[in-house]
Amino acid sequence: MGFKAWVLIKLFVLQFLSFLCSSADFDFFYFVEQWSPSYCDTKQGCCYPITGRPNEDFGIHGLWPEYTTGEWREFCDRENSFNASQISDLIGRMQKDWPSLACPSGDGTIFWRHEWEKHGTCTSLDQHSYFEAALDLKKKANLLQVLENGGITPGKIYNFTTVKEAIQEGVGYRPVIKCNKDPANNTQLYEVYLCADTSAKNFIECPVFSHGIPCGSSIEFPSFSSDSELHVAI
Ligand SMILES: *[C@@H]1O[C@H](CO)[C@@H](O)[C@H](O)[C@H]1NC(C)=O
Ligand SMILES: *[C@@H]1O[C@H](CO)[C@@H](O)[C@H](O)[C@H]1NC(C)=O
Ligand SMILES: *[C@@H]1O[C@H](CO)[C@@H](O)[C@H](O)[C@H]1NC(C)=O
Repeated sequence: MGFKAWVLIKLFVLQFLSFLCSSADFDFFYFVEQWSPSYCDTKQGCCYPITGRPNEDFGIHGLWPEYTTGEWREFCDRENSFNASQISDLIGRMQKDWPSLACPSGDGTIFWRHEWEKHGTCTSLDQHSYFEAALDLKKKANLLQVLENGGITPGKIYNFTTVKEAIQEGVGYRPVIKCNKDPANNTQLYEVYLCADTSAKNFIECPVFSHGIPCGSSIEFPSFSSDSELHVAI
């Protein structure tokens, strides 16, 4: 065998090995953020984390591996359970950018555990990389600032198309926007879906769109109101 052929074979083998190591068994990520005031401004209400009311900002819901067929896998590795000590250096950012508003009040651990075990275990990322990737995507999207740049600030009602276009303009990719309803049945901006490549580092155009409650032509972008927290009697 000539030297050239040998080099080619070696290159091929190396490439194949790196493909095996980096290949993830899914096609893209949904990166989902939720508008915290809208989570709370419902008939059901919410519970602020034990650390107090989060910033009036988007919070991360999750980073979900998906197939372009519209399917996904979940709970892929029961052995790989959430271990808070692996993300101890990220806790400050997690509390700020990935708050849990579910009742009863907690420190976020239940939410993060659920997201890791249901979705994170189906990626090729370890726990630290997974959570850090999501935090970095939030920083990169910078949704609140992007909306503000488009003249959209909390506490008012906006044209749905204007909101969508402001996000597309600011982030550079088309979002999917999902709405929920406040206690008076007004439609409000609830979740923003963006898509990322399998490295979870770069936004991409979404290969498929997930469906949710249609928002209608105008949507509320609520502020935190004083009565939005539900005080659960235990
Ligand atoms: C959690 O992670 C820490 C630090 O990596 C490790 O020492 C510990 O054994 C892990 N705990 C479990 C239950 O796997
Ligand atoms: C919302 O904005 C779009 C684009 O600017 C415009 O075509 C549409 O008529 C507006 N809709 C409403 C209900 O104002
Ligand atoms: C909101 O809509 C639901 C279901 O469509 C209805 O049962 C409820 O009475 C409505 N609430 C108000 C305040 O209009």
